[in-house]
Amino acid sequence: MKFKIKDLNLAEEGRRQIEWAESKMPVLMKIRERFNKEKPLNGIKISACLHVTKETAVLMKTLLAGGAEITLSASNPLSTQDEVAAALVEEGVHVYAWRGQSEEEYFECIRLALKHKPHITMDDGADLTVTAHKENYIENTIGGTEETTTGVIRIKAMEKEGALKYPIIAVNNALTKYLFDNRYGTGQSTIDGIMRATHVLLAGKNVVVAGYGWCGRGIAMRAKGMGANVIITEVDPLRALEAVMDGYRVMPMSKAAEIGDIFITATGNIDVIREEHFKKMKNGAILANSGHFNVEINIKDLEKLSVKKRKIRPHVEEYTLQNGRKLYLLAEGRLVNLAAAEGHPSEVMDMSFSNQALSIEYLVENKGKLEAKVYLVPKQIDMKVAKLKLESLGIEIDKLTPRQEEYLQKWEL
Ligand code: ADE
Repeated sequence: MKFKIKDLNLAEEGRRQIEWAESKMPVLMKIRERFNKEKPLNGIKISACLHVTKETAVLMKTLLAGGAEITLSASNPLSTQDEVAAALVEEGVHVYAWRGQSEEEYFECIRLALKHKPHITMDDGADLTVTAHKENYIENTIGGTEETTTGVIRIKAMEKEGALKYPIIAVNNALTKYLFDNRYGTGQSTIDGIMRATHVLLAGKNVVVAGYGWCGRGIAMRAKGMGANVIITEVDPLRALEAVMDGYRVMPMSKAAEIGDIFITATGNIDVIREEHFKKMKNGAILANSGHFNVEINIKDLEKLSVKKRKIRPHVEEYTLQNGRKLYLLAEGRLVNLAAAEGHPSEVMDMSFSNQALSIEYLVENKGKLEAKVYLVPKQIDMKVAKLKLESLGIEIDKLTPRQEEYLQKWEL
């Protein structure tokens, strides 16, 4: 087994974490059972670039059960759970990941994974896919998947420029992914990360959420549920209007900056909070990012405005500005939910990663038939995941009667 991790001795603890996640991921476990019998991934090499968490481990073990050979690198320098990385090496995955990688080490690990010449790439944020294309590691590749909104946007840009060389399934865009993972997963885990890092009371705080996409909605909903006064900032008029009618105050960041106690970015864009905003912020304001990259809060601007910086507790950096006010940046502006907490709970990752497993099986089954384009997760896979999830929850639903089916086909009443 080839690997580069923090400490193999952590494997025992990692195994227990994975077992805990497995007990909450029934859909993926059911897929694993079938994969174990049918071995649909026999002879397939997969290079995955995902957050190395206990939930990812459940996916990796499922793909192993299907017969795949797997390399795993981290999709963020700060998100790896080292005990899980160790347990996965013992399971037979080539893992190149540890928490606290430098930017250089992070890309080096992606390259190490790509040197295995994968048939399938699995990505979260598109760094692996982009590196594979730019540095020409694609000779064996028949297809890939992408887990997150930011990654899908990047890969669609590649497609538009004619740079994409193999088909990619946008797992993020499955309904059973973004309606649950992006909304309830990000909602809960972002609040979890902020609370673990700061231990502040949310009730009565002005919480500013930048971006009212599915992630922003989830964060706003959960912050409101904890008693915060939530303010939304947006650039999209439709989303801004939805936020208004969902009961939030909506205003530009230049105004929100003056009154916010906690700022959370979830836009997927750069410079959402920058010099002009930091200058207006109240003493003690907390800054957190939940978007994929650490570009939403402009840290260079923050450093420039500061006369002093110190770590006041784990994941909390105190910046003293020239105007004497103190601002608190969480998790170096990286994904707060994965750096300061454990990412999305297993129950939602169950659906996201079931889509991943089934999409990979689909890519293998359809080898050579797909073009170098971005594809949606096939509808039948998406609906199957929803059905299996409901079943696992013991929830039954109604079925259309033949008369109702017929009624829906008619246009003359
Ligand atoms: N992305 C967000 N939460 C995650 C988790 N728990 N595991 C893997 N990827 C994630």
